This record gives sequence, structure tokens and C-alpha cells, in this order.
Amino acid sequence: MTRPYVIVELISAKAIATRVEELAGEIQATFRNTDKLIIVGLLRGSFVLIADLVRELDMNVEVDFLEVSSYGNEMVSSHEVRILKDLRGEIEGEDVLVVEDIVDTGYTLSHVVRFLQARNPRRLETIALLDKPSRREVDICATWTGFEIPDEFVVGYGIDYAQRNRNLPYIGRVRLADADGKVGNEVAEES
Ligand code: IMP
Repeated sequence: MTRPYVIVELISAKAIATRVEELAGEIQATFRNTDKLIIVGLLRGSFVLIADLVRELDMNVEVDFLEVSSYGNEMVSSHEVRILKDLRGEIEGEDVLVVEDIVDTGYTLSHVVRFLQARNPRRLETIALLDKPSRREVDICATWTGFEIPDEFVVGYGIDYAQRNRNLPYIGRVRLADADGKVGNEVAEES
């Protein structure tokens, strides 16, 4: 069980939609000579971004998924990255775009990039909706980033806290309640 919390909007649904459209334009320009782009989504946080992104891409795309270990019910990374579910298809000689929700310490993305590069794709690029540069422990940066955010725990647009709040259409920061169940002037809901 998580502590009570409230969610405060950080990035609106409209701002996300505008940014996703821009990023799709850049991706399409970069891969303009590609006859097939394989989108590799990291489960589960990237599923909403992928759904929006692929509909903005006017090109031949295939979608595959990789599941890596995540935070579980915690708010801090264990730094240990394990592959829980591998791709269904081959990527050797293919153009690949890895889609991640957040780059935080960077352990997950760097591990996944090394894992996939070992399969010799023709080209491999990365996109992350959010980046928390102040938290970085591994020297890695996605090719494309939607928004840089401060060191805050966020939810929404596919991103969860203990599996909750993935369905919010916006990105919100999580404010944990104090011992009285209060967050500023607001009373948090029990979660
Ligand atoms: P990293 O390996 O520390 O870069 O962590 C990346 C993963 O941690 C992301 O794919 C998310 O699943 C998770 N994560 C990092 N920050 C947050 C957050 O603010 N909210 C929810 N999940 C997060």
C-alpha cells in the first residue's frame, strides 16, 4: 500500500500533444529514407506515448515491446535492470526507435541500448517523453526528449505510481501526505 498522496498537474495534455506532434516530425525527417521503422516500446510506461506517436508518423512502422524490471512499488531505482520480456521480432539490419517514458538515473536506457545494439540493428535511436537530468548517474541522453523536468516523482500519460494513475491524460507530480494525511491545504486521498 502507498502513502496517501495528491497529484498536481505539471504538463498539460495539450502541451504533450503539441510536443509529440513536433517530435514525430523530427523522427520522420531523420528516418525519411527508411522503408520500415521498428518502434520498440519499454513496458509499461511508454504505451500511451507510443499510441500517440505512431498515429503522427506517416511512414511504415512496426511495433514491438520489451519489458524491463522497474521500481515495483517504490519511488527509487534499484539500479538493477533485468529483461522480463524480450522482443517478438528480429532487429538485425533494421532501423529501430526505442521509446521510453522517463530517463531518470539512466540505468534502464543504457542497459536497453546495449542489449539491443548487440543484435546489430542498422540504426538505433531513442526517445523519452521525460528527462530528469539532475538525477543522472549514467552518461546517457535520449536522441529526442519531450520535456525536461525537475527531480519530482511524476505520474500520468502511461506513467504509474505502484501501477496507479497511468490513465491520467496529463503528467502530474506526486505530493505525499504528512502524518496527518495533509498535503499543503489539501487532504490527500488514501491510496
Ligand atoms: P532509470 O533507470 O533510473 O533511468 O529509470 C527509468 C525508469 O524508472 C522509467 O522507465 C520509469 O519506469 C521509472 N521512473 C523514473 N522516474 C519515475 C517517476 O517520476 N515516476 C514513475 N516512474 C519513474
